[in-house]
Amino acid sequence: MARRTPGPAAIHGSSSISAELAASALERVHGPVFHGRKNVAALQSQLIAQPKFRQTFYGRKVVLARERPTAPSMFGTGSRFRLSTSTPEFAALLSAAVRFSSPITVKKIMTYLRYAPDIEKPAADEQETIDGIINGMTQQSETVETREHHAVRASHAKSSACGTGELTIAAGLPPELAQGLFAKPGTHPVAVRFAQGPGETLGDRVSTHRGMSIKVFDVPGEKLPGHAVDTQDFVLATGTTFPSGTAAGFLRDGTVIGKSTGLPEGVKSAVSSTMRNLNRALHAFGTESALADFFGHPYSHPLADSYFSQAPVRFGDYVAKLGVVPSTEGQRALSEWRLDPHQDEDGFRHATVAFFRENEVVFELKAQLWADAEKQPIEDASIDWPVAISPYRTVATLRLPRQDAYAPDRVRYFDEVMTFRPAHSLAAHRPLGSVMRARLQVYRALSDFRHRRNGVASEDTASIGLVPA
Ligand code: HEM
Repeated sequence: MARRTPGPAAIHGSSSISAELAASALERVHGPVFHGRKNVAALQSQLIAQPKFRQTFYGRKVVLARERPTAPSMFGTGSRFRLSTSTPEFAALLSAAVRFSSPITVKKIMTYLRYAPDIEKPAADEQETIDGIINGMTQQSETVETREHHAVRASHAKSSACGTGELTIAAGLPPELAQGLFAKPGTHPVAVRFAQGPGETLGDRVSTHRGMSIKVFDVPGEKLPGHAVDTQDFVLATGTTFPSGTAAGFLRDGTVIGKSTGLPEGVKSAVSSTMRNLNRALHAFGTESALADFFGHPYSHPLADSYFSQAPVRFGDYVAKLGVVPSTEGQRALSEWRLDPHQDEDGFRHATVAFFRENEVVFELKAQLWADAEKQPIEDASIDWPVAISPYRTVATLRLPRQDAYAPDRVRYFDEVMTFRPAHSLAAHRPLGSVMRARLQVYRALSDFRHRRNGVASEDTASIGLVPA
Protein backbone atom coordinates (compact mmCIF):
# COMPACT_ATOMS: atom_id res chain seq x y z
CA MET A 1 0.00 0.00 0.00
CA ALA A 2 1.38 3.38 -0.99
CA ARG A 3 2.27 5.50 2.00
CA ARG A 4 1.03 9.06 2.06
CA THR A 5 3.99 11.35 2.15
CA PRO A 6 3.47 14.37 4.34
CA GLY A 7 3.72 17.42 2.09
CA PRO A 8 5.05 20.76 3.25
CA ALA A 9 1.48 21.94 3.79
CA ALA A 10 0.42 19.22 6.19
CA ILE A 11 1.50 17.17 9.17
CA HIS A 12 0.22 13.58 9.09
CA GLY A 13 0.35 10.47 11.29
CA SER A 14 4.03 10.73 12.13
CA SER A 15 3.20 13.36 14.76
CA SER A 16 1.51 11.68 17.70
CA ILE A 17 0.63 14.11 20.43
CA SER A 18 -1.30 14.11 23.67
CA ALA A 19 -4.53 16.04 24.02
CA GLU A 20 -2.93 18.54 26.37
CA LEU A 21 0.01 19.09 24.08
CA ALA A 22 -2.25 19.53 21.06
CA ALA A 23 -4.38 22.03 22.94
CA SER A 24 -1.35 23.77 24.33
CA ALA A 25 0.29 24.02 20.92
CA LEU A 26 -2.80 25.54 19.37
CA GLU A 27 -3.23 27.93 22.25
CA ARG A 28 0.37 29.03 22.11
CA VAL A 29 0.38 29.58 18.38
CA HIS A 30 -2.79 31.63 18.66
CA GLY A 31 -2.27 33.16 22.09
CA PRO A 32 -4.90 35.88 22.10
CA VAL A 33 -7.69 33.64 20.81
CA PHE A 34 -7.61 31.42 23.88
CA HIS A 35 -6.88 33.44 26.96
CA GLY A 36 -4.58 31.41 29.18
CA ARG A 37 -4.49 27.97 30.69
CA LYS A 38 -8.20 27.78 31.39
CA ASN A 39 -8.75 27.60 27.68
CA VAL A 40 -6.09 24.99 27.17
CA ALA A 41 -8.09 22.85 29.58
CA ALA A 42 -11.34 23.68 27.73
CA LEU A 43 -9.79 22.86 24.38
CA GLN A 44 -8.33 19.68 25.80
CA SER A 45 -11.71 18.41 27.00
CA GLN A 46 -13.23 19.34 23.67
CA LEU A 47 -10.51 17.36 21.93
CA ILE A 48 -11.09 14.32 24.09
CA ALA A 49 -14.88 14.50 23.71
CA GLN A 50 -14.76 14.54 19.94
CA PRO A 51 -13.22 11.89 17.69
CA LYS A 52 -12.48 14.54 15.09
CA PHE A 53 -11.91 18.15 15.89
CA ARG A 54 -12.14 20.70 13.11
CA GLN A 55 -11.49 24.30 13.79
CA THR A 56 -10.59 27.41 11.91
CA PHE A 57 -7.80 29.35 13.53
CA TYR A 58 -6.83 32.65 12.02
CA GLY A 59 -8.59 31.63 8.80
CA ARG A 60 -6.76 28.30 8.52
CA LYS A 61 -8.45 24.93 8.80
CA VAL A 62 -6.96 22.58 11.36
CA VAL A 63 -8.08 18.99 11.83
CA LEU A 64 -7.15 16.92 14.83
CA ALA A 65 -8.26 13.32 14.40
CA ARG A 66 -8.11 11.03 17.43
CA GLU A 67 -6.11 7.83 16.90
CA ARG A 68 -6.46 4.62 18.89
CA PRO A 69 -5.91 5.08 22.65
CA THR A 70 -2.31 4.27 23.44
CA ALA A 71 -0.02 3.39 26.27
CA PRO A 72 1.60 6.28 28.13
CA SER A 73 4.37 7.90 26.10
CA MET A 74 6.72 10.78 26.49
CA PHE A 75 3.94 12.94 25.11
CA GLY A 76 1.56 12.02 27.91
CA THR A 77 -1.08 9.39 28.42
CA GLY A 78 -4.36 8.66 26.76
CA SER A 79 -5.52 9.78 23.37
CA ARG A 80 -3.15 10.50 20.54
CA PHE A 81 -3.99 12.78 17.66
CA ARG A 82 -3.17 13.10 14.02
CA LEU A 83 -2.88 16.71 13.19
CA SER A 84 -3.29 18.28 9.77
CA THR A 85 -3.60 21.75 8.44
CA SER A 86 -3.55 23.44 5.08
CA THR A 87 -0.98 26.19 4.83
CA PRO A 88 2.79 25.68 4.88
CA GLU A 89 3.52 28.56 7.28
CA PHE A 90 0.97 27.34 9.78
CA ALA A 91 2.01 23.71 9.41
CA ALA A 92 5.56 24.75 10.21
CA LEU A 93 4.47 26.54 13.38
CA LEU A 94 2.42 23.58 14.55
CA SER A 95 5.16 21.18 13.63
CA ALA A 96 7.62 23.15 15.78
CA ALA A 97 5.12 23.16 18.62
CA VAL A 98 4.42 19.44 18.63
CA ARG A 99 8.05 18.38 18.45
CA PHE A 100 8.48 19.24 22.13
CA SER A 101 7.04 17.28 24.99
CA SER A 102 6.70 20.23 27.34
CA PRO A 103 4.79 23.37 26.45
CA ILE A 104 6.83 25.81 24.41
CA THR A 105 6.16 29.31 23.19
CA VAL A 106 5.71 29.64 19.47
CA LYS A 107 5.23 33.28 18.65
CA LYS A 108 3.09 34.17 15.69
CA ILE A 109 5.20 36.49 13.61
CA MET A 110 3.03 39.52 13.21
CA THR A 111 3.90 42.55 11.17
CA TYR A 112 1.86 45.67 11.72
CA LEU A 113 1.50 48.37 9.11
CA ARG A 114 2.97 51.77 9.85
CA TYR A 115 1.28 55.14 9.84
CA ALA A 116 2.10 57.52 7.00
CA PRO A 117 0.12 60.62 5.96
CA ASP A 118 -0.68 59.10 2.55
CA ILE A 119 -2.66 56.16 3.99
CA GLU A 120 -5.64 58.55 3.98
CA LYS A 121 -7.34 59.07 0.61
CA PRO A 122 -9.92 61.88 0.85
CA ALA A 123 -12.60 62.00 -1.88
CA ALA A 124 -12.32 65.03 -4.19
CA ASP A 125 -15.68 66.43 -3.06
CA GLU A 126 -15.26 65.64 0.63
CA GLN A 127 -15.55 69.23 1.86
CA GLU A 128 -18.96 69.59 0.13
CA THR A 129 -20.10 66.40 1.83
CA ILE A 130 -18.96 67.67 5.24
CA ASP A 131 -20.72 71.00 4.68
CA GLY A 132 -23.85 69.02 3.76
CA ILE A 133 -23.62 67.05 7.03
CA ILE A 134 -23.19 70.24 9.05
CA ASN A 135 -26.22 71.83 7.35
CA GLY A 136 -28.36 68.70 7.73
CA MET A 137 -27.48 68.17 11.39
CA THR A 138 -27.98 71.85 12.19
CA GLN A 139 -31.48 71.75 10.68
CA GLN A 140 -32.18 68.62 12.66
CA SER A 141 -30.96 70.30 15.85
CA GLU A 142 -33.20 73.29 15.20
CA THR A 143 -36.23 70.98 14.92
CA VAL A 144 -35.31 69.31 18.21
CA GLU A 145 -34.64 72.65 19.88
CA THR A 146 -38.12 73.87 18.93
CA ARG A 147 -39.69 70.76 20.41
CA GLU A 148 -37.55 70.54 23.57
CA HIS A 149 -37.18 74.32 24.11
CA HIS A 150 -33.47 73.70 24.58
CA ALA A 151 -30.59 72.83 22.25
CA VAL A 152 -29.10 69.39 22.89
CA ARG A 153 -26.31 67.37 21.27
CA ALA A 154 -27.10 66.49 17.63
CA SER A 155 -26.18 62.93 18.57
CA HIS A 156 -26.01 61.16 21.94
CA ALA A 157 -28.13 63.83 23.63
CA LYS A 158 -29.45 61.84 26.60
CA SER A 159 -26.78 61.06 29.17
CA SER A 160 -27.14 57.99 31.36
CA ALA A 161 -24.12 58.58 33.62
CA CYS A 162 -21.35 61.13 34.09
CA GLY A 163 -18.41 59.52 35.86
CA THR A 164 -14.88 60.37 36.92
CA GLY A 165 -11.97 58.07 37.66
CA GLU A 166 -8.55 57.04 36.40
CA LEU A 167 -6.92 55.51 33.36
CA THR A 168 -3.84 53.43 34.15
CA ILE A 169 -1.44 52.69 31.33
CA ALA A 170 0.11 49.29 31.77
CA ALA A 171 3.85 48.99 32.35
CA GLY A 172 5.89 46.76 30.07
CA LEU A 173 3.74 47.08 26.95
CA PRO A 174 5.47 45.68 23.85
CA PRO A 175 6.95 48.40 21.60
CA GLU A 176 4.10 48.29 19.05
CA LEU A 177 1.58 49.06 21.83
CA ALA A 178 3.72 51.52 23.81
CA GLN A 179 2.78 54.36 21.47
CA GLY A 180 1.39 57.90 21.82
CA LEU A 181 -0.48 58.25 25.12
CA PHE A 182 0.40 54.63 25.90
CA ALA A 183 4.17 55.11 25.53
CA LYS A 184 4.60 55.91 29.22
CA PRO A 185 3.14 53.82 32.06
CA GLY A 186 1.19 55.87 34.59
CA THR A 187 -2.20 57.02 35.80
CA HIS A 188 -4.32 59.88 34.41
CA PRO A 189 -7.58 61.38 35.71
CA VAL A 190 -10.57 60.83 33.39
CA ALA A 191 -14.12 62.08 32.87
CA VAL A 192 -16.51 59.65 31.17
CA ARG A 193 -19.99 60.31 29.72
CA PHE A 194 -22.37 57.45 28.88
CA ALA A 195 -25.29 58.38 26.57
CA GLN A 196 -28.08 57.00 24.40
CA GLY A 197 -27.59 57.45 20.61
CA PRO A 198 -30.34 59.79 19.39
CA GLY A 199 -29.80 63.53 19.02
CA GLU A 200 -32.90 64.26 21.08
CA THR A 201 -34.27 63.37 24.50
CA LEU A 202 -36.36 60.27 23.86
CA GLY A 203 -37.90 57.66 26.13
CA ASP A 204 -35.83 54.47 26.40
CA ARG A 205 -38.31 52.52 24.27
CA VAL A 206 -36.14 53.90 21.46
CA SER A 207 -33.05 51.88 22.21
CA THR A 208 -30.46 52.66 19.56
CA HIS A 209 -26.73 52.18 19.74
CA ARG A 210 -25.20 54.08 22.66
CA GLY A 211 -21.99 55.95 23.34
CA MET A 212 -19.17 56.34 25.82
CA SER A 213 -16.97 59.43 25.69
CA ILE A 214 -13.71 59.48 27.61
CA LYS A 215 -11.64 62.57 28.36
CA VAL A 216 -8.14 61.74 29.59
CA PHE A 217 -6.39 64.58 31.47
CA ASP A 218 -2.72 65.47 32.01
CA VAL A 219 -1.65 64.28 28.58
CA PRO A 220 1.42 66.21 27.44
CA GLY A 221 2.65 66.27 23.84
CA GLU A 222 1.83 67.77 20.46
CA LYS A 223 -1.91 68.14 19.85
CA LEU A 224 -4.02 68.54 16.70
CA PRO A 225 -4.38 72.16 15.56
CA GLY A 226 -7.09 74.00 17.53
CA HIS A 227 -6.76 71.80 20.63
CA ALA A 228 -4.77 73.77 23.13
CA VAL A 229 -5.09 71.82 26.40
CA ASP A 230 -3.44 68.64 27.68
CA THR A 231 -6.31 66.21 27.11
CA GLN A 232 -7.07 63.26 24.85
CA ASP A 233 -10.71 62.34 24.04
CA PHE A 234 -11.89 58.92 22.88
CA VAL A 235 -15.48 59.13 21.58
CA LEU A 236 -16.76 55.55 21.31
CA ALA A 237 -20.01 53.71 20.63
CA THR A 238 -21.44 50.19 20.73
CA GLY A 239 -20.75 48.05 17.65
CA THR A 240 -17.38 47.56 16.00
CA THR A 241 -18.28 49.38 12.77
CA PHE A 242 -19.94 52.57 11.61
CA PRO A 243 -22.60 51.30 9.19
CA SER A 244 -22.61 54.26 6.78
CA GLY A 245 -18.91 53.66 6.13
CA THR A 246 -17.93 57.10 4.88
CA ALA A 247 -18.92 60.74 5.27
CA ALA A 248 -20.80 60.50 1.93
CA GLY A 249 -22.56 57.37 3.17
CA PHE A 250 -23.55 59.12 6.38
CA LEU A 251 -24.93 62.11 4.45
CA ARG A 252 -26.99 59.69 2.33
CA ASP A 253 -28.26 57.64 5.31
CA GLY A 254 -28.49 60.69 7.57
CA THR A 255 -30.90 62.36 5.18
CA VAL A 256 -33.33 59.55 5.91
CA ILE A 257 -32.63 59.63 9.64
CA GLY A 258 -32.92 63.43 9.63
CA LYS A 259 -36.35 63.26 8.03
CA SER A 260 -37.57 61.07 10.86
CA THR A 261 -36.61 63.66 13.50
CA GLY A 262 -40.03 65.32 13.23
CA LEU A 263 -41.93 62.04 13.58
CA PRO A 264 -43.80 61.18 16.76
CA GLU A 265 -41.84 59.08 19.24
CA GLY A 266 -44.19 56.09 18.80
CA VAL A 267 -43.17 55.75 15.16
CA LYS A 268 -39.48 55.87 16.03
CA SER A 269 -40.03 53.31 18.73
CA ALA A 270 -41.68 51.01 16.16
CA VAL A 271 -38.72 51.40 13.78
CA SER A 272 -36.33 50.82 16.64
CA SER A 273 -38.19 47.71 17.73
CA THR A 274 -38.21 46.20 14.21
CA MET A 275 -34.49 46.74 13.89
CA ARG A 276 -33.88 45.33 17.35
CA ASN A 277 -35.79 42.20 16.45
CA LEU A 278 -33.80 41.90 13.26
CA ASN A 279 -30.66 42.36 15.32
CA ARG A 280 -31.69 39.61 17.70
CA ALA A 281 -32.44 37.26 14.80
CA LEU A 282 -29.11 38.02 13.18
CA HIS A 283 -27.30 37.40 16.46
CA ALA A 284 -28.99 34.03 16.74
CA PHE A 285 -27.37 33.06 13.47
CA GLY A 286 -24.03 34.44 14.58
CA THR A 287 -24.09 37.40 12.24
CA GLU A 288 -23.46 40.88 13.56
CA SER A 289 -25.34 43.68 11.91
CA ALA A 290 -23.95 47.05 12.81
CA LEU A 291 -26.73 48.72 10.82
CA ALA A 292 -29.38 46.92 12.80
CA ASP A 293 -27.56 47.81 16.03
CA PHE A 294 -27.47 51.44 14.99
CA PHE A 295 -31.28 51.58 14.96
CA GLY A 296 -32.19 49.00 17.55
CA HIS A 297 -29.72 48.11 20.27
CA PRO A 298 -30.89 45.39 22.70
CA TYR A 299 -32.29 46.73 25.98
CA SER A 300 -28.99 45.81 27.63
CA HIS A 301 -27.21 47.49 30.54
CA PRO A 302 -24.88 50.30 29.42
CA LEU A 303 -22.17 49.12 31.82
CA ALA A 304 -22.23 45.58 30.41
CA ASP A 305 -21.66 46.80 26.83
CA SER A 306 -18.35 47.15 24.99
CA TYR A 307 -17.67 50.38 23.10
CA PHE A 308 -15.51 50.95 20.03
CA SER A 309 -13.95 53.73 17.95
CA GLN A 310 -15.36 51.97 14.84
CA ALA A 311 -13.03 54.07 12.69
CA PRO A 312 -9.24 54.10 13.01
CA VAL A 313 -6.84 56.48 14.74
CA ARG A 314 -3.13 56.96 14.40
CA PHE A 315 -1.41 54.90 17.07
CA GLY A 316 2.03 56.57 17.18
CA ASP A 317 4.11 54.78 14.54
CA TYR A 318 1.15 52.50 13.83
CA VAL A 319 -2.63 52.70 13.29
CA ALA A 320 -5.40 51.15 15.40
CA LYS A 321 -9.07 50.87 16.14
CA LEU A 322 -9.84 51.13 19.86
CA GLY A 323 -12.31 49.42 22.13
CA VAL A 324 -13.24 49.24 25.81
CA VAL A 325 -14.53 46.04 27.35
CA PRO A 326 -16.23 45.68 30.78
CA SER A 327 -14.00 43.79 33.13
CA THR A 328 -15.47 43.27 36.61
CA GLU A 329 -17.52 40.25 37.67
CA GLY A 330 -20.28 42.65 38.68
CA GLN A 331 -20.45 44.10 35.16
CA ARG A 332 -20.31 40.66 33.58
CA ALA A 333 -23.23 39.63 35.78
CA LEU A 334 -25.22 42.45 34.14
CA SER A 335 -24.91 40.86 30.70
CA GLU A 336 -28.32 39.18 31.01
CA TRP A 337 -30.00 42.31 32.39
CA ARG A 338 -32.71 43.75 30.13
CA LEU A 339 -34.71 46.93 30.58
CA ASP A 340 -38.48 46.81 30.49
CA PRO A 341 -38.95 50.19 28.80
CA HIS A 342 -42.67 50.17 29.49
CA GLN A 343 -41.87 50.38 33.20
CA ASP A 344 -39.30 53.16 33.04
CA GLU A 345 -38.65 55.62 30.20
CA ASP A 346 -35.32 56.60 31.81
CA GLY A 347 -34.43 53.06 32.78
CA PHE A 348 -30.92 53.01 31.32
CA ARG A 349 -29.96 56.02 33.39
CA HIS A 350 -31.56 54.67 36.55
CA ALA A 351 -29.87 51.28 36.17
CA THR A 352 -26.46 52.79 35.38
CA VAL A 353 -26.54 55.28 38.23
CA ALA A 354 -27.77 52.60 40.67
CA PHE A 355 -24.85 50.34 39.72
CA PHE A 356 -22.35 53.20 40.13
CA ARG A 357 -23.75 53.94 43.59
CA GLU A 358 -22.80 50.46 44.86
CA ASN A 359 -19.96 49.28 42.62
CA GLU A 360 -16.65 50.15 41.05
CA VAL A 361 -16.84 50.12 37.23
CA VAL A 362 -13.81 48.93 35.25
CA PHE A 363 -13.15 48.66 31.52
CA GLU A 364 -10.06 47.36 29.73
CA LEU A 365 -8.97 49.74 26.98
CA LYS A 366 -7.76 47.78 23.96
CA ALA A 367 -6.07 48.57 20.65
CA GLN A 368 -6.52 46.58 17.46
CA LEU A 369 -3.45 47.32 15.38
CA TRP A 370 -3.71 47.68 11.61
CA ALA A 371 -2.10 44.72 9.85
CA ASP A 372 -3.68 44.27 6.42
CA ALA A 373 -4.38 47.25 4.14
CA GLU A 374 -6.91 45.33 2.02
CA LYS A 375 -8.95 43.55 4.66
CA GLN A 376 -8.67 46.39 7.17
CA PRO A 377 -9.43 49.53 5.15
CA ILE A 378 -8.78 53.00 6.56
CA GLU A 379 -11.40 54.88 4.58
CA ASP A 380 -14.47 52.63 4.99
CA ALA A 381 -15.54 52.34 8.64
CA SER A 382 -18.37 49.93 7.78
CA ILE A 383 -15.85 47.13 7.34
CA ASP A 384 -15.04 45.23 10.48
CA TRP A 385 -11.32 44.65 10.87
CA PRO A 386 -11.09 40.88 11.33
CA VAL A 387 -9.74 39.99 14.76
CA ALA A 388 -8.32 36.90 13.10
CA ILE A 389 -5.80 39.22 11.45
CA SER A 390 -5.11 41.33 14.53
CA PRO A 391 -6.88 40.98 17.88
CA TYR A 392 -7.80 43.72 20.34
CA ARG A 393 -4.97 43.89 22.92
CA THR A 394 -5.16 45.59 26.31
CA VAL A 395 -3.15 48.79 26.71
CA ALA A 396 -4.76 50.42 29.76
CA THR A 397 -7.38 50.03 32.50
CA LEU A 398 -10.19 52.51 33.07
CA ARG A 399 -11.31 52.49 36.69
CA LEU A 400 -14.34 54.48 37.85
CA PRO A 401 -14.85 54.12 41.62
CA ARG A 402 -18.25 54.00 43.34
CA GLN A 403 -19.81 57.42 43.01
CA ASP A 404 -22.89 59.53 42.45
CA ALA A 405 -22.74 59.49 38.65
CA TYR A 406 -25.72 61.80 38.25
CA ALA A 407 -25.10 64.61 40.73
CA PRO A 408 -26.99 67.68 39.35
CA ASP A 409 -23.97 70.04 39.13
CA ARG A 410 -21.89 67.43 37.44
CA VAL A 411 -24.60 66.50 34.93
CA ARG A 412 -25.13 70.15 34.08
CA TYR A 413 -21.41 70.55 33.45
CA PHE A 414 -21.13 67.38 31.32
CA ASP A 415 -24.32 67.95 29.33
CA GLU A 416 -24.30 71.71 28.89
CA VAL A 417 -20.74 72.99 29.14
CA MET A 418 -18.34 70.22 28.26
CA THR A 419 -17.51 68.90 24.82
CA PHE A 420 -16.01 65.57 23.86
CA ARG A 421 -14.81 65.33 20.28
CA PRO A 422 -12.35 63.37 18.14
CA ALA A 423 -10.44 66.62 17.43
CA HIS A 424 -9.38 66.80 21.11
CA SER A 425 -6.41 64.63 20.38
CA LEU A 426 -2.68 64.18 20.42
CA ALA A 427 -1.14 64.38 16.95
CA ALA A 428 0.01 60.83 17.72
CA HIS A 429 -3.66 59.70 17.82
CA ARG A 430 -5.03 61.69 14.85
CA PRO A 431 -8.42 60.26 13.83
CA LEU A 432 -8.18 58.71 10.34
CA GLY A 433 -10.43 58.03 7.35
CA SER A 434 -13.48 59.67 5.83
CA VAL A 435 -15.84 59.42 8.83
CA MET A 436 -13.18 60.71 11.20
CA ARG A 437 -12.21 63.65 8.97
CA ALA A 438 -15.89 64.64 8.89
CA ARG A 439 -16.11 64.36 12.68
CA LEU A 440 -13.11 66.70 13.04
CA GLN A 441 -15.27 69.53 11.64
CA VAL A 442 -18.86 68.51 12.44
CA TYR A 443 -18.55 68.22 16.24
CA ARG A 444 -17.07 71.70 16.51
CA ALA A 445 -19.87 73.23 14.38
CA LEU A 446 -22.73 71.46 16.18
CA SER A 447 -21.27 71.98 19.65
CA ASP A 448 -20.92 75.70 18.86
CA PHE A 449 -24.56 75.67 17.70
CA ARG A 450 -25.97 74.22 20.92
CA HIS A 451 -23.80 76.38 23.17
CA ARG A 452 -24.72 79.53 21.24
CA ARG A 453 -28.44 78.74 21.32
CA ASN A 454 -28.39 78.00 25.04
CA GLY A 455 -26.23 81.05 25.84
CA VAL A 456 -23.61 78.82 27.48
CA ALA A 457 -19.87 79.31 26.95
CA SER A 458 -18.32 76.01 25.85
CA GLU A 459 -15.14 74.86 27.54
CA ASP A 460 -12.34 72.66 26.29
CA THR A 461 -11.98 71.40 29.87
CA ALA A 462 -8.30 71.52 30.78
CA SER A 463 -8.19 69.73 34.13
CA ILE A 464 -10.21 67.32 36.25
CA GLY A 465 -10.43 70.04 38.91
CA LEU A 466 -12.97 71.87 36.73
CA VAL A 467 -15.39 68.92 36.74
CA PRO A 468 -17.85 69.18 39.66
CA ALA A 469 -17.44 66.38 42.20
C1 HEM B 1 -19.90 61.07 10.06
C2 HEM B 1 -19.98 60.51 11.25
C3 HEM B 1 -20.44 61.20 12.51
C4 HEM B 1 -20.98 62.43 12.70
C5 HEM B 1 -21.30 63.46 11.63
C6 HEM B 1 -21.22 62.62 14.10
C7 HEM B 1 -21.75 63.75 14.68
C8 HEM B 1 -21.87 63.99 16.03
C9 HEM B 1 -22.26 65.24 16.63
C10 HEM B 1 -22.62 66.50 15.88
C11 HEM B 1 -22.26 65.10 17.97
C12 HEM B 1 -22.59 66.15 19.04
C13 HEM B 1 -21.35 66.95 19.40
C14 HEM B 1 -21.59 68.00 20.47
O1 HEM B 1 -22.62 68.68 20.42
O2 HEM B 1 -20.71 68.20 21.35
C15 HEM B 1 -21.86 63.74 18.23
C16 HEM B 1 -21.72 63.19 19.48
C17 HEM B 1 -21.28 61.91 19.70
N1 HEM B 1 -20.90 60.97 18.76
FE1 HEM B 1 -20.86 61.23 16.77
N2 HEM B 1 -20.81 61.48 14.77
C18 HEM B 1 -20.32 60.61 13.83
C19 HEM B 1 -19.78 59.37 14.07
C20 HEM B 1 -19.63 58.84 15.30
C21 HEM B 1 -18.92 57.63 15.58
C22 HEM B 1 -18.18 56.77 14.54
C23 HEM B 1 -18.99 57.44 16.93
C24 HEM B 1 -18.41 56.35 17.79
C25 HEM B 1 -17.75 55.31 17.36
C26 HEM B 1 -19.74 58.52 17.50
C27 HEM B 1 -20.03 58.67 18.84
C28 HEM B 1 -20.52 59.84 19.40
C29 HEM B 1 -20.68 60.03 20.84
C30 HEM B 1 -20.38 59.00 21.93
C31 HEM B 1 -21.13 61.33 21.01
C32 HEM B 1 -21.43 62.04 22.34
C33 HEM B 1 -20.23 62.88 22.71
C34 HEM B 1 -20.39 63.53 24.08
O3 HEM B 1 -20.63 62.79 25.04
O4 HEM B 1 -20.23 64.76 24.18
N3 HEM B 1 -20.10 59.36 16.49
N4 HEM B 1 -21.64 63.08 17.04
